[in-house]
Amino acid sequence: MHPFLAILVIFSATLLADAGKNVLFITADDLRPELGFYTGERSIHPDMHTPNIDALASRSLQLRNTYAQQAMCGPSRTSFLTGRRPDTTRVHSNMAYFREVAGNFTTLPQYFKNNGYHSLGIGKVFHPGSSSGNDDPPSWSQEYYNPNVCSWDEYRRCTWPVTPEDTAECPLPDVAIADEAIKSLQRFAPGGDMEGTSFFMAVGFNKPHLPFVFPEEFLDLYPEEEISLPTNPFVPSEYPEVAWTLPYLLLRCDDITPLNFTGAINETLPEWKQLELRRAYYASVSFIDHQMGRVLDELDRLGMRDRTLVSFLGDHGFKIGEHGGWGKSCNFDLSVHAPLMVSIPGDTNNGIISHSLTELVDLYPTLVDAAGLPPIPLCPEDSSDVEICTEGASLIPLAADPEAELKSKVFSQYPREDNIVMGYSMRTRRFRYTEWPGFDSVTMTPNWDELHGVELYDHENDPDENHNVGNDPQYAETRIQLSRELRLGWRNEIKNNVQ
Ligand SMILES: *[C@@H]1O[C@H](CO)[C@@H](O)[C@H](O)[C@H]1NC(C)=O
Ligand SMILES: *[C@@H]1O[C@H](CO)[C@@H](O)[C@H](O)[C@H]1NC(C)=O
Ligand SMILES: *[C@@H]1O[C@H](CO)[C@@H](O)[C@H](O)[C@H]1NC(C)=O
Repeated sequence: MHPFLAILVIFSATLLADAGKNVLFITADDLRPELGFYTGERSIHPDMHTPNIDALASRSLQLRNTYAQQAMCGPSRTSFLTGRRPDTTRVHSNMAYFREVAGNFTTLPQYFKNNGYHSLGIGKVFHPGSSSGNDDPPSWSQEYYNPNVCSWDEYRRCTWPVTPEDTAECPLPDVAIADEAIKSLQRFAPGGDMEGTSFFMAVGFNKPHLPFVFPEEFLDLYPEEEISLPTNPFVPSEYPEVAWTLPYLLLRCDDITPLNFTGAINETLPEWKQLELRRAYYASVSFIDHQMGRVLDELDRLGMRDRTLVSFLGDHGFKIGEHGGWGKSCNFDLSVHAPLMVSIPGDTNNGIISHSLTELVDLYPTLVDAAGLPPIPLCPEDSSDVEICTEGASLIPLAADPEAELKSKVFSQYPREDNIVMGYSMRTRRFRYTEWPGFDSVTMTPNWDELHGVELYDHENDPDENHNVGNDPQYAETRIQLSRELRLGWRNEIKNNVQ
């Protein structure tokens, strides 16, 4: 290339990057969509103290009915970071790495990187370790940041309020993650070594994931007498056993093992322990909120709010005693319903609430759309050789028309029995419908003729999913129709309702 031309190319690439808005992409782990700003919409128990998340929500497009594609860290994160679903990423566990088992897909941060952004990752964004080839190096422009975890991720206690003396020796990972995010933001501010470069900064907080480790003062926000027991500490009537899973992380904790709790169906923890765990979960949520506030305050202090898109999500839901469960790993609404919001300076400054059904897999095309990058095409049936495509849809149309119905059905799934059974689940406005067919984990296809269970919950009459009416003759016709739609799957929905 002629040297002058080379300079021109570099110059225009810089211009392109300068024109772009920054992206601050924040995740929390196992966060229920039960936060202060939902108060009034549905019963939130207890009063949640999440002032920083609430403030971000007040200037965001709030996607209040968003569902995870699979209620487990690795599969969910792989899905929303590649913009594809678990049967395409071939990641249904925290073991597999999509680049090894499925294809060389361009991830969300990688796409921004390829478009002139400086991408950097801090904390838990991908599921760590072998399931992401150690935080997916191709996604990032610089070395990944993980805090020294000390001993906090050991399961010494499931409920673990810590003192300043405890953390003097070893800061909590989420504090270190916020510290690093703050330092990194400063690099892009006036006077910083990266001034003038657009960034895609992913910041992943570990809590409120088990064990519930948090500075003890966060308990003060949730007085003991305000914490109540779940109203439904049992599985639904007519519940198919295949849908049940043990609360395997909880069972590892040293404050649980002496209780002889096995996690079997309809077995409950002593009430005092349920209350203690619930209180600790809420305190962990407020702890995360506080760390997030530190990062967002720094963004403001540096004067970068107006040119930074901020997205915030939880990777899936979590059960804190409802249905007797203490975890996710299933298809109950509580496990797959997740918080999601996108703050787009200039467009969402007054906050926009949408109750349209949406999916975490939509976040990738949404951020690409919000940043004005070239749009991501819909993936073909077999996309193993296609580096850039998505199985989601941009949610930006909801900013103009929050009542629009982009999708009338959204999809989640969860495997059982070492992936020889797959629970395919679909949420409509009114129903949650799940079938548990046999599954071929080589071809990634269900065998609908081999059903191990069916679940149908009517949210109009039973919002807590306490009665499986899948075999109730009154719902026979509904079930036939939902079954047909479930088997047609997400692609049919996108074809019908998007583009
Ligand atoms: C994956 O794709 C990138 C370009 O997006 C390329 O540089 C890399 O060599 C590819 N890796 C493999 C293993 O094909
Ligand atoms: C669990 O308890 C609920 C509520 O009492 C009941 O409807 C359901 O049948 C029970 N399930 C099993 C498998 O014991
Ligand atoms: C748990 O089981 C052990 C051994 O059977 C028994 O000694 C202990 O009292 C039990 N603890 C509780 C809380 O039931």
